[in-house]
Amino acid sequence: MAKPRITFICQSCGAVSNRWAGKCDACGEWNTIVEEGPSGGGIGGGPGGLRSSRKGRPVALASLSGEIEDAPRIVSGIGELDRATGGGFVRGSALLVGGDPGIGKSTLLMQAAAALARNGHRVVYVSGEEAVAQVRLRAQRLGAASAPVELAAETNVEDILATLAEGKRPDLVILDSIQTLWTDLADSAPGTVTQVRASAQSVIRYAKSTGSAVVLVGHVTKEGQIAGPRVVEHMVDGVLYFEGEGGHHYRILRTVKNRFGPTDEIGVFEMSDGGLREVSNPSELFLGERHAKAPGAAVFAGMEGTRPVLVEIQALVAPSPLGTPRRAIVGWDGPRLSMVLAVLEAHCGVRFATNDVYLNVAGGYRISEPAADLAVAAALVSSLTGLALPADCVYFGEISLSGAVRPVAHAQQRLKEAEKLGFGQAVMPAGLEETSAAMVRRSFQPSTLADLVARIAGSRRGRPDDD
Ligand code: TYD
Ligand code: MG
Repeated sequence: MAKPRITFICQSCGAVSNRWAGKCDACGEWNTIVEEGPSGGGIGGGPGGLRSSRKGRPVALASLSGEIEDAPRIVSGIGELDRATGGGFVRGSALLVGGDPGIGKSTLLMQAAAALARNGHRVVYVSGEEAVAQVRLRAQRLGAASAPVELAAETNVEDILATLAEGKRPDLVILDSIQTLWTDLADSAPGTVTQVRASAQSVIRYAKSTGSAVVLVGHVTKEGQIAGPRVVEHMVDGVLYFEGEGGHHYRILRTVKNRFGPTDEIGVFEMSDGGLREVSNPSELFLGERHAKAPGAAVFAGMEGTRPVLVEIQALVAPSPLGTPRRAIVGWDGPRLSMVLAVLEAHCGVRFATNDVYLNVAGGYRISEPAADLAVAAALVSSLTGLALPADCVYFGEISLSGAVRPVAHAQQRLKEAEKLGFGQAVMPAGLEETSAAMVRRSFQPSTLADLVARIAGSRRGRPDDD
């Protein structure tokens, strides 16, 4: 046996070094390097790490076309969850569900477990955080207590795997959470990178070898990283993030990685007394309370994966008492806002230099699409001029640095969704004539951002009640 060696591992990115330092060279984080004992489940290694002297044994090779025993997917029947997983949990795969503490990960998975167990699947729920009584209490609250879910409160990976090996192979195993698991293969404390990685490796190997689907729950730190489990992301087959803003009841399950389906999908839920409720039409949620006559609001016709989502963007432009005006943004990208402001100043003659700018995406939703540029620009100009935008109009389109409005994908679906929700007109990029929606005829297609600014400013003349 080789002499055990002490290593120092960054708890943020998993970088290994042989001396302690205040700052991690790899990721630049401070105070994240922790001394850990000899790492059993070392990088890329099985039990025994990289220095295994065991002679390899040949494994049977198989062909691509062969029998697949069961249906490859386990469908939970919770539509929004199945959408995010790409059509259900995949047998023999490992899925990581990350999110802030208290966001509802355990609730969601308990509901999924109960639904699957009621459909005759064998589901094992292992809680490392809560006692059996606490999990039961939650199940009662969710109306899931009668479902035949098998429950354990355990944290040792070897004990868990031994338990699972008894009886019929489970269809789904939920491990809540990865930070509480520990394996005999590594000496470090639970929650450290070494433990998390070694435990995940054992569990993933179990999933691949038996064909059970395994779901790992992982907590996210304040910085938005899955503490420790970030190093697990590349090992698992899928990563879902469960997110939501404080003060809002809805939750979004976002697909970040999926080896068996599309990413960028979202599932939308609402947290209620009786657990999570599916929201099958998220647009209605994010449009919420709208005031037709208020300046500074524009409705963005966005896409999340394959699904169109309409969401209101609110801007407030106010004279600033500060030398450096404030730019405050909720739900969008800071550099992107700076870019839109710069284009408005440089190409459209609109000045924001002495104004504070506040931008908010309604409902606490987060937009990552560049297609929101046009809606943001419209909201900003509307707030600055005090001219309300038409209440039945949606906006989408990307703005380039030259001030040109560029086409974006899925115009047809965006327009269809807008039409369904009672919108009558659209402002969108030119060159999308092939889209057949009736709204195209009533749409305005500016080729540059300046055209849109001129149109908004021109609406002043058309209003009889204007002062
Ligand atoms: P939980 O699933 O324990 O979060 P996580 O596992 O991500 O840490 O969710 C806890 C929160 O959800 C808690 O603040 C209470 C709330 N909640 C409800 O509002 N309704 C419910 O029916 C349940 C079970 C929880
Ligand atoms: Mg939990």
